[in-house]
Amino acid sequence: MQLKSTDRVTIAGLPGTGKTTLARYLAALCEPRVLIYDPLAQYDGFKDENRYIPKSDSLTEFDSVCRQLRMRGNVTFIVEEAERYLGQGKPLGENAFDLINRGRNWGVGIFAVTRRVQRLSKDFFDLCQHCFLFRCGLKSREYIADMIGWEDTRKIMSLQLYHFLHFNVETEESSVYVLKLGMQQRVVEGEAKEAHLGGRATKVDIKQ
Ligand SMILES: Nc1ncnc2c1ncn2[C@@H]1O[C@H](COP(=O)(O)OP(=O)(O)OP(=O)(O)O)[C@@H](O)[C@H]1O
Ligand SMILES: [Mg+2]
Repeated sequence: MQLKSTDRVTIAGLPGTGKTTLARYLAALCEPRVLIYDPLAQYDGFKDENRYIPKSDSLTEFDSVCRQLRMRGNVTFIVEEAERYLGQGKPLGENAFDLINRGRNWGVGIFAVTRRVQRLSKDFFDLCQHCFLFRCGLKSREYIADMIGWEDTRKIMSLQLYHFLHFNVETEESSVYVLKLGMQQRVVEGEAKEAHLGGRATKVDIKQ
């Protein structure tokens, strides 16, 4: 799996399936050029300059952070609770819109983390290069199938806890992975290479 720090990425799944754990892991890979929009203050261990805890749910506050990122460039923006800020039917601020549509030009990637992918802005979702999909609820399946097709959506329905399907939108390739927490030293080199995630994600074969 080849993920670029300037890509647009969706990380979705039911509560407690492992989205934030994966996002933390990807954030660490992007350090120091990362900013985490962290409304639930979950990203302990990251430097203050790499996380932003918003004072409110306000879209104006979100847009002002997008404006700063646009000026700064070369940063991966990880947005937790993304459906609040990049929500379907919610007006996107001018800077958020620009970041989604032209962020690549400034070296800005956006990784959206959501437990309600069906409420995520279609404008954002449609432009994603990668989806990381954990077990998803019934309500989200049609939305996901629209993007990745029913064959892969059915695989998501049978995923084990903490396992996720990675779907590359450009190549239409998919694989299932699981992060092996605290077992870095036991991941053999071959597996690490296969995952291209720095040695801590392991590819899993699932029976169809
Ligand atoms: N790969 C994993 N292996 C073992 N435990 C995991 C793994 N991924 C997550 N967990 C554990 O599961 C719990 C929930 O994980 P996490 O907070 O990442 O889920 P989430 O999808 O972000 O949940 P929420 O929707 O509530 O934000 C945590 O205690 C975490 O340590
Ligand atoms: Mg979470």
